[in-house]
Amino acid sequence: MQIHYLSEKNSVLNHFLAEIRDVNRHKDAMRFRRNIERIGEIMSYELSQELKYESIEIQTPLGIKNTTKIADKIVLCSILRAGLAMHLGFLNYFDQAENGFISAYRHHPDNDDNFEIRVEYQAIADINDKCLLVVDPMLATGQSIVAVYNRLMERGHPETIHIAVIIAAPEGIAYLEKHLPENCHLWIGALDKKLNEQSYIVPGLGDAGDLAYGIK
Ligand code: URA
Repeated sequence: MQIHYLSEKNSVLNHFLAEIRDVNRHKDAMRFRRNIERIGEIMSYELSQELKYESIEIQTPLGIKNTTKIADKIVLCSILRAGLAMHLGFLNYFDQAENGFISAYRHHPDNDDNFEIRVEYQAIADINDKCLLVVDPMLATGQSIVAVYNRLMERGHPETIHIAVIIAAPEGIAYLEKHLPENCHLWIGALDKKLNEQSYIVPGLGDAGDLAYGIK
């Protein structure tokens, strides 16, 4: 797996990251969603530098410009529900993309900290020979992303695979490195310290899905 860390230098990305982490701002679900969307836009730009391009000739009012346009056929797939706001951010930039939605959640059979991942709803464009871009804001244990990846691979064979997460824990990165193939690209907005006993990212931000959709 090829890992791309976005810069931790001063930038508007870190400004938005600071806002989504800030517990004193967590009552404002609309701002939380909008910041996730804006981070998705920034990550789209970074990721766009790894896509395939083709040459084109553009007629301007004053002449001809030889330039390039995206040649990849993108399928943008988000993991429900936390991925939805991030999906919008990516779609704002990759507006020509086909789309997919797949649900994954932690099921706790014994009502304790142990859980298994359940993948259920899926509605996804054909991914064969395309550029599959999977988005999910939080990479915690990595189990959801691997479960989703395995389900997606039953549907076809993309030419390239990119996974974009906003905040990642080292445990999740290690799990993905173990279970995903070499040719996958993993994009990370920020690397955090660790997981806690409930497998939440520390310091992280809490539950991204609850915060985005106003669940207290
Ligand atoms: N999902 C979240 O929303 N937050 C975490 O910290 C881990 C998984």
